[in-house]
Amino acid sequence: MKDKILLVDDESDIREILSLALCDMGYQVLEAENGLQALEIFCDVRPPIVLTDIKMPGMDGIELLQKIKRENPEAEVIMITGHGDMNLAIRSLKNEATDFITKPINVVALEIALQRVREKILVRQQLKEYTASLENLVREKTQLQDHLTTLGLMISSISHGLKGLLTGLDGGIYLVESGFAKKDDAEIQEGWDVLKVMVERVRKMVLDILYYAKERKLETESVDILQFAGEVATTVTPKMRAEGIKFIQDFDANAGEVEIDVGHVNSALLNIIENAVDACRRDSAGQAPQIVFGVHRSKNHVFFEVTDNGTGMDSETREKIFTPFFSSKGAGGTGLGLFISNKIIEQHGGEISVKSAPGQGSSFRIKIPLQLPKAAKAKEGAPARR
Ligand SMILES: Nc1ncnc2c1ncn2[C@@H]1O[C@H](COP(=O)(O)OP(=O)(O)OP(=O)(O)O)[C@@H](O)[C@H]1O
Ligand SMILES: [Mg+2]
Repeated sequence: MKDKILLVDDESDIREILSLALCDMGYQVLEAENGLQALEIFCDVRPPIVLTDIKMPGMDGIELLQKIKRENPEAEVIMITGHGDMNLAIRSLKNEATDFITKPINVVALEIALQRVREKILVRQQLKEYTASLENLVREKTQLQDHLTTLGLMISSISHGLKGLLTGLDGGIYLVESGFAKKDDAEIQEGWDVLKVMVERVRKMVLDILYYAKERKLETESVDILQFAGEVATTVTPKMRAEGIKFIQDFDANAGEVEIDVGHVNSALLNIIENAVDACRRDSAGQAPQIVFGVHRSKNHVFFEVTDNGTGMDSETREKIFTPFFSSKGAGGTGLGLFISNKIIEQHGGEISVKSAPGQGSSFRIKIPLQLPKAAKAKEGAPARR
């Protein structure tokens, strides 16, 4: 495409001659006979180069230059001065004119001036592209660093988790060997049961890690909140009954719909409810164990709340619960549950908040926007469990 140039001069014959010369040089020429007209064309077409006479009736070239620069500081403006108008030429340069040429115009000088302007525009463009790619590089490097930090954290936590499991496996092996030595079937059986439990834990841990490693896109759909929450409740009710826990459902009848990845959010909620069951199993401070599953909504969000009257947490534990592999359950937990649940909710543009105190039970509150934010839509997915 041809470069556009705006030519401003009040004398029509000068415009005609210059216009011909500029066309010959390969420009697409726009003409204006005064400052006002020039400004209008400039705002409309935004040509990268302007060639203007200084002395014009009405708005003079310097005023036009100032207005153009205010409109677009990157516009390149070449001034045409009369012979000996050194003062005006200097004033133009002070007002950031790119160059000036004197009348009578020498076409070769004009061509050289324009060539310089084009080079300047090109360099600026290249600089912009270079800066953009540099910014991209910095962003990528930061992301890589984040991944490496997470990876380091994961490896140390995995080793920690595996160490705990190895202790359990050693215990099982000891029982089996000692049972064989004493020909004690009961001890062999006991050791064997420990080994089976430990192998099961290793399996669960490996599956969780694999799920975590495999990034997935969210597959969202609009779902009826009450129906969704009802299905979650149905899944956990038998467990509550088996554990003797009172399970209360407190659902807002006008919950409406929410845009979520059903499988992901379902597993995030199940993780949190299972933790509540564990907490009640361990202790409910002498009261009858109870879990309340609440569903409420505000104008733009839905809230899922899981409140138990189990062990509760001190502030130190509360701070670590979303860290991968943090678990207070020894071999009974991999410590990935809340880490993954948190990722899933973040991916939906939501958040999890926790209130808890030792002996006072815990309350987990998941907040999810009813409409999935655009940024979340584009993002690659976090893991789902199971
Ligand atoms: N409702 C709760 N009451 C008390 N402590 C809790 C509760 N929920 C979570 N925690 C604490 O947070 C820790 C981390 O929970 P998380 O679900 O991530 O792992 P986990 O339950 O130990 O193991 P798993 O990976 O099998 O879920 C738990 O070990 C426990 O200490
Ligand atoms: Mg858990």
